[in-house]
Amino acid sequence: MLGIARTGIRVTLASVARGNGLRQLCSGGSGSYKNILVEKKGDKSQVGFVRLNRPKALNSLCDDLLRELNVAFREFDADPSVKAIVLTGSSKAFAAGADIKEMQPKTYSTVFGTNFINDWTEMLRIRKPIIAAVNGYALGGGCELAMMCDIIYAGDSAKFAQPEIRLGTIPGAGGTQRLPRAVGKSKAMEMCLTGDMITAKEAESAGLVSKVVPADKLEAAALDLAERISRMSLMAIYAAKESVNAAYEAPLSQGLLLERRLFHASFGTRDRSEGMSAFTEKRAAEFKDE
Ligand code: CAA
Repeated sequence: MLGIARTGIRVTLASVARGNGLRQLCSGGSGSYKNILVEKKGDKSQVGFVRLNRPKALNSLCDDLLRELNVAFREFDADPSVKAIVLTGSSKAFAAGADIKEMQPKTYSTVFGTNFINDWTEMLRIRKPIIAAVNGYALGGGCELAMMCDIIYAGDSAKFAQPEIRLGTIPGAGGTQRLPRAVGKSKAMEMCLTGDMITAKEAESAGLVSKVVPADKLEAAALDLAERISRMSLMAIYAAKESVNAAYEAPLSQGLLLERRLFHASFGTRDRSEGMSAFTEKRAAEFKDE
């Protein structure tokens, strides 16, 4: 047992840490996750695989689901055998947004007083890459959740939207901030002001999504990407993620300085030396995450 969630949900990872490949950690019932399914995948079980699993509510993002998701991400981030994470949903919905039924009775003083959905940002502290594999609807908070991941792959039937305006509200988990950075102001403004959906192809050409594949090939494609990333040095993975994220957060001069310093720092790692030696010796590099 590696952790106990703040909610008291017990997360048992030990059996999988000893396991050999595919193994479902939690599938509902007491003492396990109720809203997500968690496994390790990949030829060396090096990919943390999380599936949103509230099918009756199209994976809408209730408070409990977010708590469980944060626990699962933290556990994978701390697990030395895992080097990348895939987050997916079902064929019908990645996630249809924040849970509207849960939000409906809330008042201003409740949401402001509790800093409602602030815990969504916990996943931004995860250092390992998170790949969103989006099939079906990624709406509102579902689109925002995907955008908080590091890479988005989409099935060809995926649909993205920020429909909060149709509920008399606006995106609350980064939609008005990350979407313009991804697709530009005009398209983001149109999406946030109309709630209209865009297709996977449109999302790809706008820059929201890095690859579109047939829906039934999506999980395999995301897993393949995660496995390819997992072959790199974890030191370089951390540095690359941190540096690319700085392009989002910091002014160009600060981002460039951080990038230069992380580049310099990589010269202190064993894996940088191994990577360059392997190249000059015309052999495959053997990274040890050191
Ligand atoms: N919250 C709660 N329940 C939801 C939900 C949501 N976001 N989206 C879907 N559901 C529920 C439906 O209420 C329905 O439940 P019942 O069977 O109990 O009625 C079930 O999921 C299936 O949904 P539909 O019958 O509506 O399925 P559909 O195929 O006809 O339509 C849909 C699918 C277009 C996605 C439609 O469900 C829909 O428009 N959902 C809402 C999308 C939305 O507005 N998302 C933004 C939420 S606000 C937000 O996310 C704020 C933020 O920025 C953090």
